[in-house]
Amino acid sequence: MNFTLTSGDALELAGELLVLPVFENALAHPPQVVSRADRALEGLLTRAAGEEGFRGKADQTFILHTHGKLRAARVALLGLGARTAFEPETLRLACGRAVKAALKLKPGTVTVVLPDADEEPAALVRAAVEGFVLGAYRFDRYRTLGREAQAQKPPSRVQVHLPERVTRGATLEEAVALGQRVGEAVNWARDLVNEPAAVVTPTRLAEEAETACRKAGLKVTVGGRREIEKLKMGMFLAVARGSAEEPRLIQVSYVPKDATAAGRAPLALVGKAITFDSGGLSLKTAEGMVDMKTDMAGSAAVFAAMQVIAALKPPFPVHAFVGACENMPSGNAYRPGDVLTSRLGKTVEVTNTDAEGRLVLGDILTWASEHKPFQLVDLATLTGACIVALGHYLVGAFAVNDEAAEQVLEAGQAAGEHLWRMPITELQKDALRSEVADMKNSGERWGGAISAAIFLNEFVGDVPWVHLDIAGPSQSPRERGYYGKGATGVGVRTLVELVRQHAAHLGMEGTSVSGETPARRGRARRVRAR
Ligand code: BES
Ligand code: MN
Ligand code: ZN
Repeated sequence: MNFTLTSGDALELAGELLVLPVFENALAHPPQVVSRADRALEGLLTRAAGEEGFRGKADQTFILHTHGKLRAARVALLGLGARTAFEPETLRLACGRAVKAALKLKPGTVTVVLPDADEEPAALVRAAVEGFVLGAYRFDRYRTLGREAQAQKPPSRVQVHLPERVTRGATLEEAVALGQRVGEAVNWARDLVNEPAAVVTPTRLAEEAETACRKAGLKVTVGGRREIEKLKMGMFLAVARGSAEEPRLIQVSYVPKDATAAGRAPLALVGKAITFDSGGLSLKTAEGMVDMKTDMAGSAAVFAAMQVIAALKPPFPVHAFVGACENMPSGNAYRPGDVLTSRLGKTVEVTNTDAEGRLVLGDILTWASEHKPFQLVDLATLTGACIVALGHYLVGAFAVNDEAAEQVLEAGQAAGEHLWRMPITELQKDALRSEVADMKNSGERWGGAISAAIFLNEFVGDVPWVHLDIAGPSQSPRERGYYGKGATGVGVRTLVELVRQHAAHLGMEGTSVSGETPARRGRARRVRAR
């Protein structure tokens, strides 16, 4: 898909599809472009839409052939829901629906007219572009499709049409470039998660990350069992033991060219990378295992974000740390009752081999915190309990440090990803008390997402750390907006926004993927990168 910004009279633009967003109940007093299109269509647009029950609700789309009465072959009304509830994410979701509709048409030009909303035009442009790129995503590599499905091709060209009061310029061109890059990175992450675990083994995950990240100009180092042993990661090694697949230790680094910037404390990112989670000897049920190829979604998001970060060139280093392995039962698997020694030196009694993520992450978080980051963020499909608590649409955000939590929540808000702060309460600490070691790896069922976070917290020292439990939102249970059923790539957008925020705080140097410098956004003083 090729994106261009257009302005002037939208009705003059030819193409397959002209997309006109409409707020709920706005058809009585439609925006000018809609009433002009309606007049050209002799009133058929509003009449037919009304008769089909189109009210501009956030999940409604109505398409009409124009029969030569407009230059576009079809016009689509795209519901946005209530004007008062509008945010860029509304437009992102709507554009996802628009491109799904366009997939069924000839792969020509689609024009979307930006709604007249009280939002930064750059945020709207970016959301629209991301919605198109994300909505066009399909994972059909393994389907021998029927002819009709095979014919589905994304539009060759997307015109993002600006409202009259908005003038084109570097800031908006930059928003297009960033939106496209972020969308493609999210889709890259989705592919890695959607691939079967037999394909994306720890070795393959490391190879894919290495290839893509090197291409983006990042430094990548990959180690195997020997390196993990050398780093005394006793918990990681224990989890990896039961699998025939070799574990992988992966570090991806962005270091600024400028010496002052390179000398700053880094941002550290960590992603869970269990390429398949059978539960180990504490074996999952058949049903509980079906989606467990998704257990590396945190690492996919981190690797994808790193590729965008390489293009953004923020004025501080960013390092990603990942420990990849499978969690399998075998004669060589780690057992319930085993006592492990972590890299940090703390000992852990294994009470459930299915609580493997926290074991690997504990060692990786220690390794990451040794690099003295000013902030440490991990993404992990960590607990079923978090899905019970927050469902499939919210990321659980755990942090002891309020300031770090706020910054990550703010990034999520700006990115249109929904994060919900969860507590790390001392009240629950005795849940992990062990009789034989410093702690055990799993406690009672209740508050399971919290005790997992409490466990991780033992391994980060005093680094400002935020843990994002993405077990729910890593998968979409249904088609919705720009989502399909399957991997979502959640977290990429939040991490990219977090980096942009930290860079903005340092004075906006190098946060542009196209080499332009976007206008400075005002924000309150915060302790950030130094
Ligand atoms: N990978 C799972 C968590 C998960 C569940 C992710 C469903 C995505 C969908 C994790 O390793 C796990 O098994 N957690 C256990 C922890 C328990 C044994 C303390 C869980 O949530 O049941
Ligand atoms: Mn598990
Ligand atoms: Zn797991």
